[in-house]
Amino acid sequence: MCGIVGYVGNKQAAPVLMGGLRKLEYRGYDSAGVCIQNGRLTTVRSEGKIAALDLKLAKHHLQGTSGIAHTRWATHGVPEERNAHPHRDCSGSVAVVHNGIIENFLELREELTGKGHIFHSDTDSEVLAHLIEHEMEAGLPALQAIRASLACVRGTYGLVVIFKDLPQTLFTARMGSPLVIGIGDGEHYIASDPSAIIEHTRDVMFLDDGEIACVSSEGITLCALDREDVPHRIQHLDWEVETASRGEHAHFMLKEIMEQPQVIENSIRGRVDLIGGRAVLGGLDDVRDRLKEIDRIVIVGCGSAYYAGLVGEYLIEELAGISVEVELASEFRYRKPIITERTAVLAVSQSGETADTLEAIVEAKRKRALTLGLVNTVGSSIARATDAGVYNHAGPEIGVASTKAFVSQMTVLSLIAVYLGQLRGFLPESKAREVLAGLHEMPELVEKVLANRGQVTRVAEKYRGMENCLFLGRKYQAPIAYEGALKLKEVSYIHAEGYSSGEMKHGPIALIDKSFPSIVLCPQDSVYEKTCSNISELRARKGPIIAVTTCGSMSHVQADDVIIVPHTMEALQPILTVIPLQLIAYEAAVARGLDPDKPRNLAKSVTVE
Ligand code: AGP
Ligand code: GLU
Repeated sequence: MCGIVGYVGNKQAAPVLMGGLRKLEYRGYDSAGVCIQNGRLTTVRSEGKIAALDLKLAKHHLQGTSGIAHTRWATHGVPEERNAHPHRDCSGSVAVVHNGIIENFLELREELTGKGHIFHSDTDSEVLAHLIEHEMEAGLPALQAIRASLACVRGTYGLVVIFKDLPQTLFTARMGSPLVIGIGDGEHYIASDPSAIIEHTRDVMFLDDGEIACVSSEGITLCALDREDVPHRIQHLDWEVETASRGEHAHFMLKEIMEQPQVIENSIRGRVDLIGGRAVLGGLDDVRDRLKEIDRIVIVGCGSAYYAGLVGEYLIEELAGISVEVELASEFRYRKPIITERTAVLAVSQSGETADTLEAIVEAKRKRALTLGLVNTVGSSIARATDAGVYNHAGPEIGVASTKAFVSQMTVLSLIAVYLGQLRGFLPESKAREVLAGLHEMPELVEKVLANRGQVTRVAEKYRGMENCLFLGRKYQAPIAYEGALKLKEVSYIHAEGYSSGEMKHGPIALIDKSFPSIVLCPQDSVYEKTCSNISELRARKGPIIAVTTCGSMSHVQADDVIIVPHTMEALQPILTVIPLQLIAYEAAVARGLDPDKPRNLAKSVTVE
């Protein structure tokens, strides 16, 4: 999820590595580090920004023409120097930098500890260095030791390895986290994305999943976990440097919308036990006994996080049978909320730094509630303030508008609902398995929505001149209506309102005429017929109608435009229906010549009250 740079060649490595890390700063990170091979492995790491690492490096005058570097976005282990990469083995012979999540790191760590390995960090990544060391102690040469180690690993990795005794040589491997090799004259580069190396070379080779490369100043040898020779395929990048950081996407918002299949995979990784039919949430196991005793959950959040909480309300009440209320954090803290020791207060926050949400947790703790966090940023204030919680593992979200984090929040709330339902003996196994299977196939379903992006582009183009828009949804889709309205207004500045469909006749329908379009979320769920009636009411007032639905034809409800998404179970359908709304907002902003990544007046994290 974060940044990797490697270099081997005839220049001093440290400046090349640090320059590459600076090009990757846009990705968001919490710590950084460098390791240079100069007869031994010298590692310098720092918490915080690259400038802090620069200051440390200035004291070391690291000399050497090969090295690796990393900017970390923590998933396991708070952002501290000791958890920053590169990580080393016991003997100081191996150093690694890793992007991704090692799902089975705990069992590997226990095994290696039992064999005498001593760990220095709380990260999942460190096991890789010890695994390789262990295989080399068993007599395997470097490449085979890496292959044998990766054969034991479950999860994702973009990995670069450097050895004390192998000068001018790096090894790199990819599984689910991108890596690119840059080809120079007598020198080679490795990076998590081309922006870190494009100033040095435009001739690159992208690694595919399962591939491993040995990269030296003389050349590159490619192999794979399951086969020997792998063909070289060098391509020439004609990207502008600026573009490289967003890949082929024009904006981070679009990049983050398009990477949602991978985000869902990361959010459920290691947490969906299809065989046992269980949701596995280690972060809640510490408070299992208290969770069994709670009689009420209060979900607090702001903006999109609040809307995700509204989806969570339906999920937890349906799947866990616990009473749930969702509160705007900015209001909750000024009320006299009835909170007891049997109340769990769950804070939903991408940044983990939203002041109103943090204050709500402080208030809940004061009233001795069990406080939980659903947070994307490891080690953030809310993560540290709560008694327990679950991380999203959505990776850094650069765009101000929450997209992938919102989808990840709904995904993890589904897991929390199953976990609670099973913990309390409320949820039948068959229903739990249905939800878990639905989550398991969700990345593929999201891919289908994104593959059909053209239907959204056509709708966005048709309505690009609209000045107002009403978003309507019912039950699980009502929060998605609110979220869709928020997305549209915050990036395109078009006035939009989200309403529960049932509320329309209590006022908003007065707005409707032929100039006031409505986007109606009407998947084939338990309230489909009622929502179709709402569409007819809009039609009778000549309001233009865009229907987001799962069925092949909407002719019987006379929508003017139809966006089809795949059908899934009602409780998970919001994950799919929100995506067209994200794309409509994005397209509307771009059509109006706006920068969707930096909407006026907004900040990515509202750390003021
Ligand atoms: C959503 O697109 C906005 N960026 C905003 O509403 C955001 O969701 C809200 O500020 C909460 O942020 P948090 O998740 O970091 O707490
Ligand atoms: N999972 C690793 C960690 O938490 C790597 C995170 C990243 O991709 O930056 O250190």
